[in-house]
Amino acid sequence: MRLLVLGDVVGRAGRTAVATHLPRLVERWSVDFVAINGENAAGGFGITEEIAQGLLDAGADVITTGNHVWDQREALVFIARQPRLLRPINFPPGTPGRGATMVTARNGARVFVANVMGRVFMEALDDPVRLVEAALEQHAIGSEVDAAILDVHAEATSEKQVFGHLFDGRVSLVCGTHTHCPTADHRVLPGGTAFITDLGMCGAYDSVIGMEKEEPMRRMVERVPGQRMGPATGPATLCGVAVETDDATGLARWIAPLRVGGDLEGAVPPGWQERS
Ligand code: FE2
Repeated sequence: MRLLVLGDVVGRAGRTAVATHLPRLVERWSVDFVAINGENAAGGFGITEEIAQGLLDAGADVITTGNHVWDQREALVFIARQPRLLRPINFPPGTPGRGATMVTARNGARVFVANVMGRVFMEALDDPVRLVEAALEQHAIGSEVDAAILDVHAEATSEKQVFGHLFDGRVSLVCGTHTHCPTADHRVLPGGTAFITDLGMCGAYDSVIGMEKEEPMRRMVERVPGQRMGPATGPATLCGVAVETDDATGLARWIAPLRVGGDLEGAVPPGWQERS
């Protein structure tokens, strides 16, 4: 089956890129399932119910998040009635929402998505490995589910790569998010899991990780905060990966980068080009 997984949507520019390109790509390439990280979708900080619905309407099947999930306080409430919105699985017990879910894809396949947050250079949370292990126990690819995606929202490239190797052979894709820069190390690991250290963001790249560059530059030079940071408004690049999985095993056949629009050089999955 065909998975499209997009990185962190940043602000209006990122949302516009998703709304402009995603429906067309899903249709043109007969994409079966779309996951997208939406934790920076509302002005760079968090996600509102309306924005979450907008991403789902554009073609997302599941929205993952990370450290910014509660920046818009309404998310603490509406996440209970939006089962397709995930927050990291290793938040403390009793945290609203859920860190993993199973969704039926467009082709009828069962797709499991889990969202976990790293602990290196991030806030102290529950053991991410143990909680992902527990979540995957009942969701083996090739039997209980047809495909599985693990979004590792983490700062350190090393931690994200550890997750790739730990779960190689047990999920279809391990993808890193949070650092907002696409890495070029997408590949299928020896056990058959597709991997990329970071998907990159869906946002304006003439920026500092999606935010207007002036304030971060000023803070770096002058060492005192000035204005509130806001998302960059220039043309945005839709950024992520395409993965084709084996229907019998749920493992990856290949992974390819996807970059559409904005300042980054375009990239289209070669295996899907002929269908365009
Ligand atoms: Fe983040």
